[in-house]
Amino acid sequence: MSDEKLALLGGSPINSEPWPESNTIGEEEKKAVMAVLDSGVLSGFRAVPGEDFYGGPQVRGLESEWSAYFGASHSVSFNSLTSGLFAAVGASRIGPGDEVIVSPYTMAASVTCVVAYGGIPVFADLDPESYCLDPASIEERITPRTKAIVIVHLFGYPADMDRIMDIASRHHLTVIEDCAQAPAGQYRGRYVGTIGHIGGFSLNRHKTIQAGEGGMMITEDPELALRMQLIRNHGEVTVEAFGLEDVANTFGGNTRMTEMEAAVAREQLKKLDGLNQARITLAQHLDTCLAEVPGIEPQRVQHADDKHVYYLYTMHYDEAVVGLPRDLFVEAVRAEGVELRQGYVKPIYLEPMFQQKRAFSKGQFPFASEFHDANVSYDKGICPVTEAAYDHELIFGSFVRWPLTEAHMDQVADAFKKVIANRDALLAAKAK
Ligand SMILES: Cc1ncc(COP(=O)(O)O)c(C=O)c1O
Repeated sequence: MSDEKLALLGGSPINSEPWPESNTIGEEEKKAVMAVLDSGVLSGFRAVPGEDFYGGPQVRGLESEWSAYFGASHSVSFNSLTSGLFAAVGASRIGPGDEVIVSPYTMAASVTCVVAYGGIPVFADLDPESYCLDPASIEERITPRTKAIVIVHLFGYPADMDRIMDIASRHHLTVIEDCAQAPAGQYRGRYVGTIGHIGGFSLNRHKTIQAGEGGMMITEDPELALRMQLIRNHGEVTVEAFGLEDVANTFGGNTRMTEMEAAVAREQLKKLDGLNQARITLAQHLDTCLAEVPGIEPQRVQHADDKHVYYLYTMHYDEAVVGLPRDLFVEAVRAEGVELRQGYVKPIYLEPMFQQKRAFSKGQFPFASEFHDANVSYDKGICPVTEAAYDHELIFGSFVRWPLTEAHMDQVADAFKKVIANRDALLAAKAK
């Protein structure tokens, strides 16, 4: 195999068949949606105090099953996790001038939820093993204005929650866990999302379980749950009935889930354990296949009681050892028919909103305003671990998923080995 010409240089690829899509929607979901359609009640919500404030039977059924699965006291559904994160920040009463520590390496909603309420995102750097926030970096960035931390369990890997909760309790910070990529992932035997003050999950179509769109928030705190429900459903006209003294941030919108999405999500929740197990089994097989490949280090679970649920399979790439620039390696592997990618997302502070400190139509609010005169830096270089991952160290694939098989994982490893074996030919061809 290794002597064969690289596909990028005109040889035959290791894999010439497109890999099967992951479609987890089956007869169960179809039946559940048809029953909703037959009932004619596609949403049970109304923005009035009383039963209808909480939504229809599917939404409420999903919330109670979600709570039971995670052992949580309260679940609040949304039309997306983006909406759920916005509500979590609002419910935590973040306001103008408050600083919130966030990850620079995530889907942008884990950061913009802070800006939406006039809070100021302060980016901490990552732990190079977990790609989640490094507790030491969090601690360095705490100031008297810090009010909360948004933790992202990135790629399915749990962040170091003991150290994070210790920091949070010493500084009286609210912890919001973004578990979009780690549903039922565990930290020291506990589900992520149940350790901080609020946990959030996504049901968008790319996640391990999906309802097209959707988000689920969990909390032990009844007031946080109520505040999220208010923000979800026009709190400005419903709050009075609940007797909350502090109405700050209770105004809302319509970010409610439909009955059809909830019906799908209830069926999908039953499949979560099986779909996660499929990912773990494939990841372990691929770990073994890649063990002898120098310069490519799959992400390792650091603690026996942690559960990585492999939303993405990530590897640390060492250009010096492999002997190829990362992007060229990825291009050559992709030509072999293996969907490898590099870098994940640009560090969020390098996006224009932060570089220009421009979020709203006038002035520089919330980055500079009467509420906050300190100059939070979004300069290149503030998070070197993140920048190195983005620029040259991280490679990843979304191939660790049902219905792919160990034979597909073998193709991944074969493609890596073929490209490395033909490194000199590749470099020579590129130098021409
Ligand atoms: C880490 C993370 N946070 C938040 C979200 C937002 O989820 P949604 O698409 O449900 O709004 C995503 C979705 O990709 C995500 O990966």
